[in-house]
Amino acid sequence: MKDIDGKSLKNAYRLFETGAVNSFETGTVRGLLQIHNCLFEGLYDFAGQLRAKNISKGNFKFANTLYLKEVLAKIEHMPEKSFKEIIEKYVEMNIAHPFMEGNGRAMRIWLDLILKKNLHKVVNWQNVDKTLYLQAMERSPVNDLEIRTLLEANLTGDVDNREIIFKGIEQSYYYEGYEKK
Ligand SMILES: Nc1ncnc2c1ncn2[C@@H]1O[C@H](COP(=O)(O)OP(=O)(O)OP(=O)(O)O)[C@@H](O)[C@H]1O
Ligand SMILES: [Mg+2]
Repeated sequence: MKDIDGKSLKNAYRLFETGAVNSFETGTVRGLLQIHNCLFEGLYDFAGQLRAKNISKGNFKFANTLYLKEVLAKIEHMPEKSFKEIIEKYVEMNIAHPFMEGNGRAMRIWLDLILKKNLHKVVNWQNVDKTLYLQAMERSPVNDLEIRTLLEANLTGDVDNREIIFKGIEQSYYYEGYEKK
């Protein structure tokens, strides 16, 4: 594990341990910036800040910086009442990919806060297979059925369970290639 990611993982634990995460806005751009800032403060100079460069992954180009701000303003107004709506919103935020680094990790926390507030559920990430998850996310800009089905099968109402939360954070870092020593 890179030093930076180990430190960020500790920041993520602390975010939940202290309950700071509960003071963040839910489902907004500001809320996502708050999460990103907490995970990467002092580690990246762009912690909590929108990217100014265009980025891509595989053969997918994320939102152009020319209209990133406008896209984000629209996304935060997307409804989040049903599970289907929440996944649609999450998928659009992934397409926006607002940060230079740390998009996956910040956005999964952002998603859980939306699910917790509106459905009183969170994703039990430790049970969501890495390969299936990444394949479903790669597919999601074209069709969100796979990611919706995968995450819906792994929702839990046990939203304040420490073990579920902390194992979930570890899993989130594992998706991005970091493993605890
Ligand atoms: N080909 C793809 N198309 C669309 N989304 C993808 C693709 N591959 C991965 N993703 C989604 O983007 C997330 C993060 O990918 P990426 O490596 O681009 O971001 P990152 O900024 O490096 O995030 P982190 O630092 O948390 O790894 C993944 O967890 C997944 O949800
Ligand atoms: Mg990364």
